[in-house]
Amino acid sequence: MRARGAIRYLAVMPSSAEHPRVIVALDFPDPGRALEFVGQLDPRHCRVKVGKELFTRGGPMMVERLVSTGYDVFLDLKFHDIPNTVARACVAAAELGVWMLNVHALGGRKMMEGAREALEALPGKRPLLIAVTVLTSLGDEDIHEVGMAGTAADNVLRLARVARRAGADGVVCSPREVKALRQTQGRDFCLVTPGIRPRGAATGDQKRIMSPGEAVAAGSDYLVVGRPITEAPDPLAALQAIQGEIDTQIAATQ
Ligand code: C5P
Repeated sequence: MRARGAIRYLAVMPSSAEHPRVIVALDFPDPGRALEFVGQLDPRHCRVKVGKELFTRGGPMMVERLVSTGYDVFLDLKFHDIPNTVARACVAAAELGVWMLNVHALGGRKMMEGAREALEALPGKRPLLIAVTVLTSLGDEDIHEVGMAGTAADNVLRLARVARRAGADGVVCSPREVKALRQTQGRDFCLVTPGIRPRGAATGDQKRIMSPGEAVAAGSDYLVVGRPITEAPDPLAALQAIQGEIDTQIAATQ
């Protein structure tokens, strides 16, 4: 059943050249190095992610530089606060011109609804609003320790339902959760997956990994890839190899 669903989904997918699915995680401690690095890539071929470290060092100017260079920027600050504060932070992020931003689903329905409403009220195209469900660094024991019942996977599915009802466009999830989320949330819910490793690449500290082809076949919309590209001797070649793997997977099912 599921395999046929995945094939139907892939059959209508554009290639990487038409629609870049790789989001390169700019996990650099130094904004200068990050800018030098993106100079080796092309905003037509990938998107980029700015997380807490780079944002704390490089600030909004870093984001504006990337946006003005033509990159779609995913601002990965995982907002989690009272609804009014998060809504205002989302507006501030949108005004930097980011393409995607995220909040914690555990901030609750009202917080996510507030974020969505604040973004909808802005003129022009709004950023995609993505929710973080359960951090992939947390296992079942960790979530029990903080008082949550059920498995991490149960909580991912439940929080994704809440996020969707609150107006989030999608969630960040581990590639292993993609199939179940596609089944429960349907096609038009954006699934963003880190934990991607091309075949033969070092896994580093990532445990629950999938290859780019496998993640796309499972139903992932966007693949967050850091070290396999940022630490490659030739980052552009590494990106192209990942895109090739994605396109081969798509072509194989058309
Ligand atoms: O280098 P690597 O490909 O492992 O980088 C993955 C990126 O995705 C990092 O920026 C990491 O912080 C982020 N991320 C993750 N797992 C999550 C959420 C975000 O690896 N659950």
